[in-house]
Amino acid sequence: MGIGSDPAGWELDKIGPVHRIAVIPGDGIGREVTAEAVKILEAFGGVDLHYLPWSADHYLATGETIPTDGYDTLRSCDAILIGALGDPRVPDNRHARDILLGTRFELDLYVNYRPVRLLDDRLCPLKGRTRADVNFVVFRENTEGLYVGVGGRFKAGTPDEVAVQEEINTYKGVHRIIRHAFEFARARGIRSVCMTDKSNAMADGHALWQRVFRELQSEYPDVQGTHLYIDALAMLLVQNPGQFQIIVTNNLFGDIITDIGGALQGGLGMAASGNLHPGRTSMFEPVHGSAPPLAGKDVANPIGSILSAALMLETLGRADEAQRIERAVEAAVQARETTTDVGGALGTRAAGEAILRRL
Ligand code: NAD
Ligand code: IPM
Ligand code: MN
Repeated sequence: MGIGSDPAGWELDKIGPVHRIAVIPGDGIGREVTAEAVKILEAFGGVDLHYLPWSADHYLATGETIPTDGYDTLRSCDAILIGALGDPRVPDNRHARDILLGTRFELDLYVNYRPVRLLDDRLCPLKGRTRADVNFVVFRENTEGLYVGVGGRFKAGTPDEVAVQEEINTYKGVHRIIRHAFEFARARGIRSVCMTDKSNAMADGHALWQRVFRELQSEYPDVQGTHLYIDALAMLLVQNPGQFQIIVTNNLFGDIITDIGGALQGGLGMAASGNLHPGRTSMFEPVHGSAPPLAGKDVANPIGSILSAALMLETLGRADEAQRIERAVEAAVQARETTTDVGGALGTRAAGEAILRRL
């Protein structure tokens, strides 16, 4: 979005937009990897960073997980970059539920977009597999399923305890995520979408997924819809990941298979994601968590966070910058200028620097 040129000859139309970005470093290694992603954003410019301290430290010090106007603050930004949340001092994960899951729900970020792309053959844990075998996208439903917190406990802490956790599947929720997967396929010229569920055992909730998938398939004759039960899909992700291009599934299954996806890319430290509501403020985060044993040691891989920042720029209409980041990451990985989890010998900061230098 240019702003026009002025009569004095300044090339103002070359100045890009300034995006207001909420940055939530969070807990543990989330802080360290976010710092590296932020350096890259700052190198490009065009960002107005708005730091939010929401974390386990903040919760333990103040009793507040997220302020009452917290979601409005997030909505007032163009995008959100978040590190990770989780701390052994908050065993019930209350702050993460409000900050991370709360934002997904309150901002209605119904698409969890998790690309799985191997950047260097040597990082694939599967014998004989190459980059051509690991290149797919998972669309995880992000606002319902088993995550909604419907349920409760009766006689908690006694031998008679009853624990109920309901899975919510709505026509609207299932429809919009499957439609998004088909639309993505069509826009990118991808010929197939695989929906995965457990409709053989979950005959009510997942029958809805079956129905909606069939309905939408009829609107997308150019894209072949296929189906696998989640257990079979888990096996095939390991045995023959090359058959997948787009996978669409519910909240919990998407969570689990994207950790497998992380492993296929060389480790969780490589995996990026976006929590999207197309056209609205969306949130970007690495797939990994706060990894408490690694925290504060300058060992965490910053690539998942850096690639999440690239997804953010792409979503904000800055595809050129996103591609430059992706190319720089790929070059650093291939040169083994990375952290040790992916075969290098660098610390978090030096690995971030190796990418920054290549931009
Ligand atoms: P985790 O992703 O934090 O770590 C699992 C393991 O993966 C680590 O021990 C490490 O070996 C490896 N790993 C992860 N990220 C890495 C990186 N950047 N570089 C190198 N290695 C990396 O998962 P966990 O141990 O199950 O969870 C720890 C905490 O994080 C928990 O509180 C959990 O709830 C939380 N969590 C948060 C998020 C999030 O905020 N999005 C995601 C997952 C887990
Ligand atoms: C993820 C994480 C979260 C999830 C946790 C921290 C609640 O594992 O983003 O993958 O399950 O969605
Ligand atoms: Mn997860």
